[in-house]
Amino acid sequence: MPIFDLSHIRQSFPLIEQEARSGRVYLDNAATTQKPEVVIKAVEAFYHSSNANVHRAAHHLSTEATLRYEAARDSVKNFLNAQHREEIVWTSGATEAINLVVQTYGRRFLQEGDEVVLSLLEHHSNIVPWQLLVQEKGIKLRFLEPDDEGRVSIDQIRSVIGDRTKFVSVTQMANATGDILPLKDIIERAHEVSARVLIDGSQGIAHESVDVQALNCDFYVFSGHKIYAPTGIGALYGRYELLEIMPPWKGGGEMIDRVSLHGTTFALPPLRFEAGTPNIAGVIGLGAAIEWLATIDRTSAFEYERHLRRTMVSLCQEVPGFRLIGHNEDTSILSFIVEGSHPQDLGTLLDMQGVALRVGHHCAMPLMESLKLNGTLRASIALYNTTDEVVHFASALKKAVTEF
Ligand code: ALA
Repeated sequence: MPIFDLSHIRQSFPLIEQEARSGRVYLDNAATTQKPEVVIKAVEAFYHSSNANVHRAAHHLSTEATLRYEAARDSVKNFLNAQHREEIVWTSGATEAINLVVQTYGRRFLQEGDEVVLSLLEHHSNIVPWQLLVQEKGIKLRFLEPDDEGRVSIDQIRSVIGDRTKFVSVTQMANATGDILPLKDIIERAHEVSARVLIDGSQGIAHESVDVQALNCDFYVFSGHKIYAPTGIGALYGRYELLEIMPPWKGGGEMIDRVSLHGTTFALPPLRFEAGTPNIAGVIGLGAAIEWLATIDRTSAFEYERHLRRTMVSLCQEVPGFRLIGHNEDTSILSFIVEGSHPQDLGTLLDMQGVALRVGHHCAMPLMESLKLNGTLRASIALYNTTDEVVHFASALKKAVTEF
């Protein structure tokens, strides 16, 4: 039976405990989360007791490594509620997963004049790969743009996603502001015009349960390091019938069926997209993180994170010049500026008081430009943060603004 036991959770994160002992607070979880002991141990145990390459040999170590590696694929499949385990492709993270889709589906199926719809909230990793395709194929990019209240209306969705739209690629939760798009309406409209849909779950996945079948998206991508797993590992979910018709993008071992000097036939998905020796330890670490998450009552964890964020907002309102950036209250990200202070300076003053957060454009320059900002400060919450830490952050901010 999953439970949400905060003190137990905190004890599971050695670095969070270490920082707390030094009076420091980690609120840069949207950049990367800390790792629980079980994940660190799973990676260590792999190198200690079952290190070998996967899918390649008859010896017992390789069999053991392959079993663990493929068990993690089952864990991700269940975590996302995908229909088939073959729909989960390992990548180095969300960035590589988006590039994979652009370079395979996009290059093969998009033609000059076709439109791809993104949103203004996207991280550069969901803009730049598409811009590279614009240069190569002559496709056109269009953008969903939230209004001053952060809303994207049905009318806008219907006018931007139209007959020329062949692909829609949008975030589940904006990394720079925590804002959330009306995904259900966007996906419904995209499918009405027979466009494919990719959801960038990099931020959303740690703070909402994901069911790719209920969402009815065609692709879903995420990075493991934002859900308590190691860096350098992530996954692409793709509907099998789409993965099946997508060409490979990287050639090498593992992704082939047969190779002769005259040509090659390719493996079925997911191996078709997994050339070379993969990040085996990373996959095992990701599997361990997902199994660990399964022991936690995530509904309570999400509600707790939102409660912390509400507390943060109300404490920060007391800081002279504080201005919240973003409109969504049901999020774990608090993006803000303080009128009259430079975000970078405040970030440094907060660090001096033991508070770690991110400052700058957050790899979302088009969004910052539309907000007429050079950058913001961003405090982002994970399930191990506490009310005391939120109070520490708000007091440090007040001090940075009023006393320095
Ligand atoms: N994409 C990460 C962030 O938002 C690095 O900070």
